[in-house]
Parts: sequence; C-alpha cells; structure tokens
Amino acid sequence: MPLTLRRWLLIAFAGLGVGALLISCATVERTVVAPPEIEGATFVGNKACYECHTNIVRSFISSPHARIHSADLQMKGQSGCESCHGAGSRHIAAGGGRGRFIINPGRDSQTCLNCHLQTHAEFQLPQHHPVLEGKLNCVQCHDPHGSDIMKAAGTGLAMARLNESCAQCHREQAKPHVYEHDAMREGCTVCHVPHGSINAKLLVERDLNLCLKCHAQVAGAGQAAGSIVIGSIDHTLLVSRGACWSAGCHSAIHGSNVSPNLHY
Ligand code: HEC
Ligand code: HEC
Ligand code: HEC
Ligand code: HEC
Ligand code: HEC
Ligand code: HEC
Ligand code: HEC
Repeated sequence: MPLTLRRWLLIAFAGLGVGALLISCATVERTVVAPPEIEGATFVGNKACYECHTNIVRSFISSPHARIHSADLQMKGQSGCESCHGAGSRHIAAGGGRGRFIINPGRDSQTCLNCHLQTHAEFQLPQHHPVLEGKLNCVQCHDPHGSDIMKAAGTGLAMARLNESCAQCHREQAKPHVYEHDAMREGCTVCHVPHGSINAKLLVERDLNLCLKCHAQVAGAGQAAGSIVIGSIDHTLLVSRGACWSAGCHSAIHGSNVSPNLHY
C-alpha cells in the first residue's frame, strides 16, 4: 500500500468477529487489535472510573474518542477509558494509584498506534518527528481526554492558540516578527506535515508548489505567456535557480525583523 497521507483510519476490534470497523472513507486490510493487556483484570466501563477521576470522565464526553465509545458489553475494552488504559478491575480493587495495574500511554505511544495504523506508517517515513524513537509523545500534541484533541495535553482550559502546540518546542519559528509572513496565520501545517514526510524539514512539498498554492498569479499585460509572476515581479528565471526559500531568496520564511520580502 502506498504511504499516502489520506485520512484513512482503520480501526479493528478484537473479539467482535467483524475484523475491521471502518471509520473514515476506505478500508485497506484486515487487522485485529487487542486493547492493552492487564493480567487478570476485567473490563468495568467508564462509570467505574467516575468516583476517583471525576474531571477526566466529565471532560471525556466531548472528546472525539468518546464518539466511538459504547456502553455495549461487547464493546467493553474496545471503547472508552479502558481502550487506552486496559481493563480496570484490578486497578480499582487495589484502590487505584500510579503504576498499579493500569497502563499510562503518556509514556509509550504504542497503545495509540495499535488503532492508528496510518499514523504509525507516517512516523516511519524518512523524515519524521522522533516519536517511535521515544523522544516525543502523542500527548505533547494531542490531549487524549478533552474536547480539543488537537492541542497539547495539560495546557489548561483555554482554547489552544494556533501553532501553540508546535511553539512549545520550536520557539524560534513561532515567535513574533516585525515583518510577519501571513501564511503563519493559517498554521504551521500549511507547509509542514506534523507526523512524517518524504520531504526534508517535514515539508508538505519540497518545490515551488509549496509557495505557489498561495502566490500563483497569471501573467498580466506585457508579460510573456507562461511566465511565473509573483507579487507583480517576474520570477520565471528566478525559480529555475532553486527553491523559493534557498539562500539569497526568501530564506526568512517564518518571518523577518529586517526584510519585508523575507530575504533574511
Ligand atoms: C485515547 C486514549 C485515552 C482514552 C480513551 C483515555 N485516556 Fe486517560 N490518558 C491517556 C494518556 C495518553 C494519558 C497520559 C496523559 C499525559 O501524560 O499528559 C492519560 C492519563 C490518564 C490519567 C493520569 C492523569 C495524570 O494525572 O497523570 C488518568 C487518571 C486517566 N488518564 C483516566 C482516564 C479516564 C477515567 C478515561 C475515560 C473517561 C480515560 N483516561 C480515557 C489516554 C487516554
Ligand atoms: C478507588 C479510586 C479509583 C478508581 C475507581 C479508579 N482509579 Fe485510577 N487512580 C486512582 C488513584 C488514587 C491514582 C493515582 C493518582 C495520582 O497519584 O495522582 C490513579 C491513577 C490512574 C492512572 C495513572 C496511572 C499512572 O501510572 O500514571 C490512570 C491511567 C488511571 N488511574 C485510570 C483509571 C481508569 C481508566 C479507571 C476506571 C476503569 C480508574 N482509574 C479508576 C484511583 C482510582
Ligand atoms: C481503540 C482504538 C483507539 C485508540 C487506542 C486510540 N484511538 Fe484515536 N481515534 C480512534 C477513532 C475510532 C477515532 C475517530 C473518531 C471520530 O472521528 O469519530 C480517533 C480519532 C483520533 C484523532 C483525530 C480526531 C479528529 O478530530 O480528527 C486523534 C488526534 C487521535 N485519535 C489520537 C489518539 C491518540 C493520541 C491516542 C493515544 C493516546 C489514540 N488516539 C488512541 C480510535 C482510537
Ligand atoms: C508534533 C506534534 C504531533 C505529534 C507528536 C503527534 N501528532 Fe497527530 N497530529 C498533529 C497535528 C498538527 C494534526 C492535524 C493535522 C492536520 O490537520 O493537517 C494531527 C492529526 C492526527 C490525527 C488525525 C488524522 C490525521 O492524520 O490528520 C490522528 C489520528 C493523529 N494525529 C494521531 C497521532 C498519534 C497516535 C500520535 C502518537 C503516536 C500523534 N498523532 C503524534 C500533530 C502531532
Ligand atoms: C515536544 C516537542 C515538539 C513539538 C511539540 C513539536 N516538535 Fe517539531 N521537532 C521536535 C524534535 C525533537 C525534532 C527533531 C529534531 C532533530 O532531529 O534535530 C523536531 C523536528 C521538526 C522539524 C524538522 C526540523 C529539521 O531541521 O529537520 C520540523 C519542520 C518540525 N519539527 C515542525 C514542527 C511542527 C510544525 C510542530 C507542530 C505541529 C512541531 N514540530 C511540534 C520536537 C517537537
Ligand atoms: C510558508 C510555509 C511555512 C510555514 C507556514 C511554516 N514553515 Fe517551517 N519551514 C518552511 C520551510 C520552507 C522550511 C525549510 C527552510 C530551509 O530548508 O532552509 C522550514 C523549516 C522549518 C524548521 C527547520 C529549522 C529551520 O528553521 O530551517 C522548523 C523547526 C520549522 N520550519 C518549524 C515551523 C513551525 C513551528 C511553524 C509554525 C509556527 C512553521 N515552521 C511554519 C516553511 C514554512
Ligand atoms: C497559506 C498561504 C501561503 C503560503 C503557503 C505561502 N505564503 Fe507567502 N504570503 C502569504 C500571504 C497572505 C502574504 C501577504 C500578502 C501578499 O503579499 O501576498 C504572503 C507574503 C509573502 C511574502 C512577502 C511579500 C511582500 O511583498 O509582502 C513573501 C516574500 C512570501 N510570502 C514568500 C513565500 C514563500 C517563499 C512561500 C513558500 C515557502 C510562501 N510565501 C508560502 C500566504 C502564503
């Protein structure tokens, strides 16, 4: 299967006899995934967690993961709290506690990857955030319990600012500049893929198409047909010299304090 970045999500549920449950637009293979295993423990359902983890159970209702939750007995373990944390009976019998018969996927993303096969493939592309290497984790960009799974976990109740989850680690690119590049207002992901890419620097595209999708202009009067005009300047010869962001051109692609044309 080619490693496309299409939003396929193949979720497989063990023990259902169904093989694969399709969530998005296409199914690609049959896989069976078991929830994380805790020896001797049985599934108890979300309600059993409420007494001690009240806030998490409450906020979880609005999580995208709650959409797959079902109280159906057959679904126990494949949905809800225990799909990520493993069966809860022994944890509860022991009165709870850290490291006590419960999985915390904040330390090991394997639990997430069991279901998100496409994401797993993305992290294996030649350029990738070093998640599989254990240098960063899903929860540094995704809140597993709250309503906004696209923000980092533990960053408070405020709605995530655009680019905030990237700025935690990449301050240099996200800081304000005298001459801003307006592309940043659409977020880092207009130019970068967050998980992995075949292109250096996690770029969505590695040639001038990265820029032309916003900057393309048709040649006007007095300009040769087929010429590439950007910002009313004829770039036809310039673009043959290399990428728009190469040295000497718009190398201050994230913004500049000195050059309105983002040269340096
Ligand atoms: C999508 C997977 C997922 C689901 C579903 C999930 N959690 Fe979590 N949970 C996590 C991850 C990941 C962490 C680690 C978060 C971190 O390190 O910031 C975590 C951490 C926790 C913690 C420890 C918090 C702390 O202070 O360190 C508790 C308690 C918890 N979850 C309870 C629950 C309960 C209760 C539910 C159901 C209402 C639930 N979780 C559903 C993934 C999940
Ligand atoms: C009897 C109270 C109680 C119940 C019920 C309970 N827990 Fe806990 N749990 C705790 C306590 C206490 C901690 C330690 C929290 C701390 O130190 O801040 C804990 C910690 C955790 C952690 C973090 C573990 C770690 O190693 O970091 C997770 C995850 C968790 N619980 C999930 C659950 C889930 C899922 C349920 C429901 C199936 C559940 N708990 C039910 C009391 C409980
Ligand atoms: C039991 C399978 C399962 C596990 C385990 C699981 N997920 Fe999911 N996840 C899903 C499904 C199914 C959806 C799609 C929900 C929907 O769109 O209705 C989803 C959606 C998502 C989304 C996208 C939400 C959106 O709005 O597009 C993110 C991000 C995500 N999960 C991250 C995680 C992370 C991080 C973990 C581990 C902490 C994790 N998942 C663990 C099944 C799982
Ligand atoms: C460096 C930050 C970062 C890390 C680490 C990260 N993600 Fe994401 N993820 C994102 C962003 C940003 C998006 C939204 C992409 C978009 O909208 O174009 C996303 C989207 C997703 C989606 C929605 C489908 C898709 O691919 O667009 C899923 C599912 C997902 N992530 C799962 C995970 C899992 C599982 C992990 C850990 C194994 C993880 N992510 C680690 C930043 C991250
Ligand atoms: C938890 C910290 C963390 C977060 C959050 C994070 N990154 Fe990274 N990023 C890293 C690490 C670590 C590397 C690998 C650096 C290395 O290998 O030298 C990296 C590498 C990169 C690279 C490639 C740099 C290069 O020189 O090849 C880009 C581009 C990037 N990240 C963009 C993003 C974007 C966009 C986001 C938000 C969606 C993001 N990062 C969120 C830690 C993070
Ligand atoms: C308009 C497109 C664009 C946007 C938006 C963008 N980047 Fe970049 N980024 C690039 C390009 C192009 C490079 C490659 C520069 C090079 O190779 O010299 C790059 C390189 C990087 C690098 C590697 C180190 C460096 O500076 O060369 C990091 C880290 C990075 N970007 C993070 C981010 C973060 C974080 C955001 C959002 C705050 C972001 N980028 C938004 C185009 C963009
Ligand atoms: C998401 C859309 C988007 C993308 C992608 C994008 N830009 Fe921009 N860029 C803008 C907007 C909007 C402006 C401000 C309005 C304008 O000047 O067209 C701007 C302004 C600029 C400027 C300042 C021009 C001036 O005279 O003010 C330069 C230089 C620039 N972009 C270069 C690039 C390069 C190089 C790339 C590719 C790495 C790129 N842009 C990708 C949207 C984008």
